[in-house]
Amino acid sequence: MSFRPAEHEAYDRDHAAARDVSVNPIFSRTGEATSVPRFKIPSDPLLPETAYQIVHDDAMLDGNARLNLATFVGTWMDDHANRLYLEAADKNMVDKDEYPATAAVETRCWTMLADLWNAPEPLNAIGTSTIGSSEACMLGGLALKRRWQHARKAAGKSSDRPNLVMSSAVQVCWEKFCNYFDVEARYVPISDDHRCLDGHDLDKYVDENTIGVVVIMGVTYTGVYEPVTEVAAVLDQIQADTGLDIPIHVDGASGAMIAPFVQPDLAWDFRVDRVASINTSGHKYGLVYPGVGWIVWRDTAALPEDLVFRVSYLGGDMPTLAINFSRPGAQVLLQYYLFLRLGWEGYRAVQQTCSDVAQYLSAEIAKFDAFDLWNDGSDIPVFAWRLKEGHTENWNLYHLSDRLRMKGWLVPAYPMPADLVDVTVQRIVVRNGLSHSLAAHLLEDIKTEVEYLDGLESPMPTSGQHPTFHH
Ligand SMILES: Cc1ncc(COP(=O)(O)O)c(C=O)c1O
Repeated sequence: MSFRPAEHEAYDRDHAAARDVSVNPIFSRTGEATSVPRFKIPSDPLLPETAYQIVHDDAMLDGNARLNLATFVGTWMDDHANRLYLEAADKNMVDKDEYPATAAVETRCWTMLADLWNAPEPLNAIGTSTIGSSEACMLGGLALKRRWQHARKAAGKSSDRPNLVMSSAVQVCWEKFCNYFDVEARYVPISDDHRCLDGHDLDKYVDENTIGVVVIMGVTYTGVYEPVTEVAAVLDQIQADTGLDIPIHVDGASGAMIAPFVQPDLAWDFRVDRVASINTSGHKYGLVYPGVGWIVWRDTAALPEDLVFRVSYLGGDMPTLAINFSRPGAQVLLQYYLFLRLGWEGYRAVQQTCSDVAQYLSAEIAKFDAFDLWNDGSDIPVFAWRLKEGHTENWNLYHLSDRLRMKGWLVPAYPMPADLVDVTVQRIVVRNGLSHSLAAHLLEDIKTEVEYLDGLESPMPTSGQHPTFHH
């Protein structure tokens, strides 16, 4: 198996007849190489300006982040944040002895999140920053597993067959968690009647080996919230019937930074007793550049002490909980900057604007004869639609995605997970920066391209079609 994706190989093939990267003669200096090997570290140094120009030119071929409606990840911060980023680029988050102030800021941030997510006693909650939600989910899953193991051992029962229950529409990080940490993944399939994990039939999936249930606030495929209170109510009933006390981890990669501001009355967080831990991506609706996630446990009892390591080799007695050791500290400072800069009201204004734009766009998309809306973007500002059954045999959503790409827009199309793999959807993620006027341009482009496709007299070729990046 190769880890070199075919399209990256093709990219490098297409962009160079030779295996070398050539240097524009304007930039290379006398005596300097005029080409550098593509897949080998060059034998000699280059001048910084030359090396910069090569990397700059390569990166220039990446897409325009503003038009990327496929990603949840932040791509813009203001000038003060950029200044802080430069000043803090060298800080290593794990080195809490050298950077005690950054470490204190990290603690402030996750305590603020514990408070935002209604932990009963935020100062008694525990949390950490991570490199993103994936690492945070791994830690959440590990804490569930370890708590369950302790309880099983204390009861003199076997603890070698843990399972985790979740929707088939979980993000890949949960599949990774189960795979990497030997936990059986039990997927509750989605269907047209149950479009997300809503508690139905849960008793058929959980048993004494269930370490927890994952509930997603903002399903990656569509943006809908899974109803935490309904799932918790079913688990309450299961406990009353069987004695099994199964905790919930809320994967709030996106929604944990939307719901507190846009739907403050929705109980999805530590207000629900069964919720043991919550993660979010600081780099999604936390509005920070890529490289920061968060996890908070309701209280110290929810995080087994034996998952925390203490190291002395950086000086001092350092507790470390994250999976990664060294990682950038700058993003944590940027998160703190935004908490201060925006405050609750600022976050509300940004998220509400995204929500308004998403609902405007979804209402317009709903007017197309060609489309059936899956959801309207009123949970997180993300929505999906599918092609109306019987609308056409001549084109599909992959074709529309390709046509929009020609205009710079990244609007991915992809199949839904089990049991709806035959359904293809197209999705828009509205992030900070997709203004009403930009959205109006997008709609114009969608109209033009749908008209073009509807005008075709014969079917478009479908060979080689594949889902576009969505995460
Ligand atoms: C629901 C959900 N969980 C986890 C993740 C992984 O987050 P990250 O990219 O921060 O690792 C994502 C990413 O889109 C997500 O949507």
